[in-house]
Amino acid sequence: MAKPVVILGHGGHARVVLDVLRLLGREIAGVLTPDLPPGARWFEIPVLGDDRWLGCAEADGYAYVLGIGALPHRPGVRTRLFCQLHARGFDLPALVHPSAVVAADVPMGQGVQIMAGAVVQPGCEIGDDALLNTRVSVDHHCRIGAHAHLAPGALLCGEVRVGEGAFIGAGAVIIQGLSVGPGAQVAAGATVIRHIAAGIRHIPGHPPIAIEQQHSGVRA
Ligand SMILES: CC(C)(COP(=O)(O)OP(=O)(O)OC[C@H]1O[C@@H](n2cnc3c(N)ncnc32)[C@H](O)[C@@H]1OP(=O)(O)O)[C@@H](O)C(=O)NCCC(=O)NCCS
Repeated sequence: MAKPVVILGHGGHARVVLDVLRLLGREIAGVLTPDLPPGARWFEIPVLGDDRWLGCAEADGYAYVLGIGALPHRPGVRTRLFCQLHARGFDLPALVHPSAVVAADVPMGQGVQIMAGAVVQPGCEIGDDALLNTRVSVDHHCRIGAHAHLAPGALLCGEVRVGEGAFIGAGAVIIQGLSVGPGAQVAAGATVIRHIAAGIRHIPGHPPIAIEQQHSGVRA
């Protein structure tokens, strides 16, 4: 039987995650956040405490879902948290919104989140903790690396490789067969017509920018 879920974080992404969990009929045991007092309620969900709660004896009895997003200017925060939970052997279920269309043959790792209206076509692979946000479109045989974030409306034509921890901005289009390297970032609305190397921020009309390596826990 599915374990009751604990959500980590209580911001905007957590609100979206809560909605998906409710639509899926999952039992929600509580939320962990440092910003609300234990015992408070967040959308009727009890606040259990902050991350220290994970050290308590009963923590193994729950499944965990990350309620924090992954934005370009604070890369690695979500990844580090996922890696800590994974190292502890916690149950990290994949979360797929009922309106998402995901081909039956797509393997997905632990903690993957696929939000409303997303489409993932056959032959794709999705690594641990990857976040496919609202209405992304991932065409056939794409490989999405662990901890990657495809922001709302991103469009990957077929056979695109997205490296570990990479960020594809809202509405960006990646032409078929291209690679976006590990830890690379693509600006919202960009159309990518060449490979993007690891650790590079791509903004249309600007030279490639090397992103400082703040990606602890992510291979570059
Ligand atoms: C790519 C991004 C991270 C750039 O951030 P940044 O390095 O701080 O960039 P700045 O805001 O300092 O802008 C630097 C230059 O890039 C331009 N620029 C920034 N974002 C751009 C974009 N998406 N498209 C085109 N140009 C952009 C700016 O106009 C500026 O140009 P200038 O130097 O000629 O004045 C950011 O703009 C972006 O696209 N973020 C993704 C947003 C998103 O998808 N959110 C979804 C969250 S779920």
